[in-house]
Formats: sequence, structure tokens, C-alpha cells
Amino acid sequence: MTYLVTGGTGFIGSWVVKSLLERGHKVVAFDLVPGRHALDPVVGERADEVTIVQGDFTQMHRVLETVREHKITHIAHIAAAGLNLCNANPAHAVHVNGVGFASMLEVCRTMDIERMVWASSAGVFGGSWGSKAVPNDAPFQPRNVYAGLKVLGETLAAQYHATYGTDVIGLRYTFVNGHGMPNHQGGQMIRELCEKTALGQPAQVPWGEDSPDWLWGGDAGEATALALEAAPTKSRAFNVPGDHAPMTRAVEYVKSLLPDADITLKAGKMGFNRFDGSVTEKEIGYKPKWTMEMQLRERINRVRQEHGLPLVG
Ligand SMILES: NC(=O)c1ccc[n+]([C@@H]2O[C@H](COP(=O)([O-])OP(=O)(O)OC[C@H]3O[C@@H](n4cnc5c(N)ncnc54)[C@H](O)[C@@H]3O)[C@@H](O)[C@H]2O)c1
Repeated sequence: MTYLVTGGTGFIGSWVVKSLLERGHKVVAFDLVPGRHALDPVVGERADEVTIVQGDFTQMHRVLETVREHKITHIAHIAAAGLNLCNANPAHAVHVNGVGFASMLEVCRTMDIERMVWASSAGVFGGSWGSKAVPNDAPFQPRNVYAGLKVLGETLAAQYHATYGTDVIGLRYTFVNGHGMPNHQGGQMIRELCEKTALGQPAQVPWGEDSPDWLWGGDAGEATALALEAAPTKSRAFNVPGDHAPMTRAVEYVKSLLPDADITLKAGKMGFNRFDGSVTEKEIGYKPKWTMEMQLRERINRVRQEHGLPLVG
């Protein structure tokens, strides 16, 4: 069996590639802009085992050629236009995440792909749930074009399953953290909280009144591999939670590792929720392993190691 990972040299895609390789699968990473900035630090030496193909998944012929040439049996469809691109160019976002996603479903249907697992988002639920965990079957309340297109994806996937039996599973990742993270709002927060503090620089950390759901890239990769391998599922999409923990506790923990850290925790909220992963655990066997503390320690120590500084914790 050979696994195609679209966006396979991006952030989450690299963690998916790592999990699939560790499970003994052959992997083809298909990416519009193939690079090694995420793949190498995440996958390490085994990155050489990955076949890398340059292509645009919105061009169906490129995906079909790749599926035929490499005898692809399973797809992890991780590539998409991200939040910033969707905000900047909604019409382009519809082309990529709407029409392009439908074209991936057509590839699965016509090429008898055994299963496609794709990156939906916890953002489909929007809203503020307070301390209540968002259940797997909560109503959708997308707050922007990015989340609205993930809802369209879930709707299309359910329709293809109902009409053609195409086996497609969406994973609603929460706030994914790890090496290779893009420089979006979340990436900037981690850079302040972990990278600047690791180097003894003053840090301005946002969202002091919020509690992110810290999902380690390795756990996101593992959830994706489990979903690709699971027996047929009842649900068509799953919450993929991490460790729900307040920013105040994250800052306290960093200060416990680096007592001289100069951190200003700014007031404000990003709008994170807590997610119920019980259905995910029951149907695909996923449970997060990495706590917020393990994630922050790993990020800090990676930076310190790169700069020849002693490790902490
Ligand atoms: N990062 C998060 O916290 C998070 C949370 C929930 C969902 N997601 C979803 O996970 C997926 C991956 O996000 P990421 O954070 O790894 O982003 P990323 O930008 O690091 O990775 C996306 C990759 O897809 C590639 N790509 C983009 N358009 C393409 C196209 N048309 N054809 C082929 N490749 C293309 C990019 O070159 C990039 O390597 C996205 O679908 C995103 O919506 C991310």
C-alpha cells in the first residue's frame, strides 16, 4: 500500500509523513511548493525515504498521474489554502478548498482509493462554548470563509460517502504545535513563548485570558495514520483534541523551566474551545499523548540545542 500526502512537505503534512513512515508505509508527498524546511526537522533521516512530487491538487490530471504512477491506495489530503489566504482572497480560497476539494473526491471515486483522510478544522464549530467541551456532532457555526469551506468539505465528503460509498474521513485538528509551524498567529505566539524565552530575549505573549487546545504535531500525525488504518467508521469526521490548558499555566510552566524569563502576558482572547474526543477514541483509537508541558519543553529545548545552550527540564 502506498500513501499520498498532499501538502506533505508542509507543517502538519510532515508530521503525517513521519507517522506513516513509522508504521512501515510507502509515502509520496505531493506539494505545490515542495521544501525541506518542515520535512527535515520533523522526519529526520528518514525524510530521504519519501518520494516528493511537485503539483497542484486543484489540477486533477496531476493528482491522477501521481496516483497511477505510484499506485496510490490511500490519501491524506492535508494541503489547503490557510486562514490568511482565505481572508486575503476568498474567491481563490473557494477555488482551492471548495472546487479543488471536490476534485480530490472525484479522484477517490474514480480511482477506487481505499480511503482518504483530510484536514478539516475545529474551526467548523466557531462560537464560544465556555467550559463545555464541543461534542463531535455539534452544529456547525463557521465564522469565516476558511471555516465555511471546511464545512463545505465535510458536506461534500458525507454526500460522496452516501451516494458512491467513497470512504472519506475529516479530522478536525485544533491548535497544532510543533517544529515546522508556519508563521501565522499561533506560530508567532509560540515563537514568543518558547523561542525568545529559550534564548533569553524578552517575550510578549498574547491571549492571556484564553485556553488553547494544544495539539502536538506528532499527535495530529498519529490521529491521521490511525484514521487511515481504522476499520470502517460510523462517523464521517472527528474532533482531534490535544491538551486544553490556559495561557497563564503555560507561562508559569515556561518560567519554571527558565526562571529568568522576561515574559509579558497580554490580556485578550483568540477564541479557543475545548473539544470532546470520546467518539474519536472509540472509532479510530486516537487519544492525545502530549501535554502542553511536554510540547513547550520540546520546543524550548530544540531551540536551545540549535544554539548550543544547555537543555532545561
Ligand atoms: N495548523 C493548524 O493548527 C491547523 C488546524 C486545523 C486545521 N488545519 C489544516 O491542516 C492543513 C495543513 O495546515 P498546515 O498548518 O500544515 O499548513 P502549511 O501551510 O504548513 O501546509 C500546507 C501545505 O500545502 C501545500 N499546498 C497549498 N496549496 C496546495 C495545492 N494547491 N496543491 C498542493 N499543495 C498545496 C503548501 O505548499 C504547504 O506545504 C490545512 O488544511 C489546514 O487548514 C491546520
